[in-house]
Amino acid sequence: MKTIIEPFRIKAVEPIRMTTREQRRALLQGVHYNLFGLHSDDVIIDLLTDSGTSAMSAAQWGAVMRGDESYAGSPSFYEFESAVRELMPFRHVIPTHQGRAAEAILFSILGGTGRIVPSNTHFDTTRGNIEATGASAVDLLLEAARDPESLHPFKGNMDLAALEALLASSHEQVPVVMMTVTNNAGGGQPVSLENIQAAAAIAHRYGKPFFIDGCRFAENAWFIKSREPGQQDRAIPDIVRDMFAVADGMTMSAKKDAFANIGGWLALNDDAIAAAARNRLILTEGFPTYGGLAGRDLMAIAAGLREIVDENYLRYRVRTNEYIGERLLRLGVPIVRPVGGHAVFVDARRFLPHIPPLQYPGQALAVALYELGGVRSCEIGTVMFGLRPDGTEQAASIDLVRLAMPRRVYTQSHADYVVEVFEELARSRDSLRGYRIVKQPAQLRHFTAQFEPLA
Ligand code: F0G
Repeated sequence: MKTIIEPFRIKAVEPIRMTTREQRRALLQGVHYNLFGLHSDDVIIDLLTDSGTSAMSAAQWGAVMRGDESYAGSPSFYEFESAVRELMPFRHVIPTHQGRAAEAILFSILGGTGRIVPSNTHFDTTRGNIEATGASAVDLLLEAARDPESLHPFKGNMDLAALEALLASSHEQVPVVMMTVTNNAGGGQPVSLENIQAAAAIAHRYGKPFFIDGCRFAENAWFIKSREPGQQDRAIPDIVRDMFAVADGMTMSAKKDAFANIGGWLALNDDAIAAAARNRLILTEGFPTYGGLAGRDLMAIAAGLREIVDENYLRYRVRTNEYIGERLLRLGVPIVRPVGGHAVFVDARRFLPHIPPLQYPGQALAVALYELGGVRSCEIGTVMFGLRPDGTEQAASIDLVRLAMPRRVYTQSHADYVVEVFEELARSRDSLRGYRIVKQPAQLRHFTAQFEPLA
């Protein structure tokens, strides 16, 4: 059959509270046109993030009931640890309350003033945790990946020559080489197995550990299976094990590819770093067999990890975004291509060419999607990245709007609805206006900035 169906039935539902366009106009005014300020029950389709928003399965909810809440040595920890090690066989698995906690612990040990941490592209919490220690985070993304039109199959790949050059000139300052799979900041683009292995080999040649930010490891493995020569007949868990076999450790947010609503971990092989990490964990997160999570959370993650590597799920998952992407392209809505694993990234700067970057075309599009259809998305552009530390502003290199798909939450008719909102918007796009910021904090302004529409 050609139709790729949702490979699940629905047993419990959450009602969507419908609102009118008039109501949404008033709500927008009330939150100063910042979608982070909305109450989520005023949102019809929430595509703000795929993080922590997954629908858990009946098996996961059953596992939650079996969660053991002992402070130390809970069987839930051992079930979690063995589920992680089944796919990522690291010697030490250290639970944390979410991904950024694992990053904070890792870089409290490996970071420090003057150090340089390269990656294909650091996610913003990773960058923030590196920079908070005085180290610098550098992105060494493949050149082809910077072109939103390029159909390169692995636009998350590291520029290996740039990595080699950095290590040749500054290896003493580099404590670790990172790789983010998939590359969220770059559009959910995958990294090939060949690139992972080659980057690890370069790191190891200079005696450096190689760590993977594995948030969307299963989606990445699916892309490897479907796009990388020689991988088509392999099982997803085998590809996953190959991805991590060359790594010395990983950070993980279980809020993505573990189908959990909270959780994460730091896993690694080095005994000394693991001991330092556990000491830090006890200070900031909790005892090493729960690390800031309840036993039931550890159980949900363990069950989620077994479900996420299912091929029928991954085929449906990636197809959902491709489907939306194809239909948007047919409407003439420019998007980042190929469509990534967890989201569709709309190129707002090209969709609204009459709105200059410093009038925030991404914000204008995101606000319009909410006003017209109650769809919440996220600007990734000049609002998010345009404020310099000295308080001046510059246009970001891109102005995108991310439509991130929660896992197993929305159906095809929800996707059709989102496309219809775009269809309507495409007709009136010339009438959309830019925004100006009337109030903003000094950092991470996108979360709390207040906007005003331009006349
Ligand atoms: N790494 C990547 C690649 C991420 O996408 C995220 C979170 C993190 C690390 C941090 O994990 O949220 O559990 O602390 N990304 C979310 C998003 C917030 O919306 O893309 P966390």
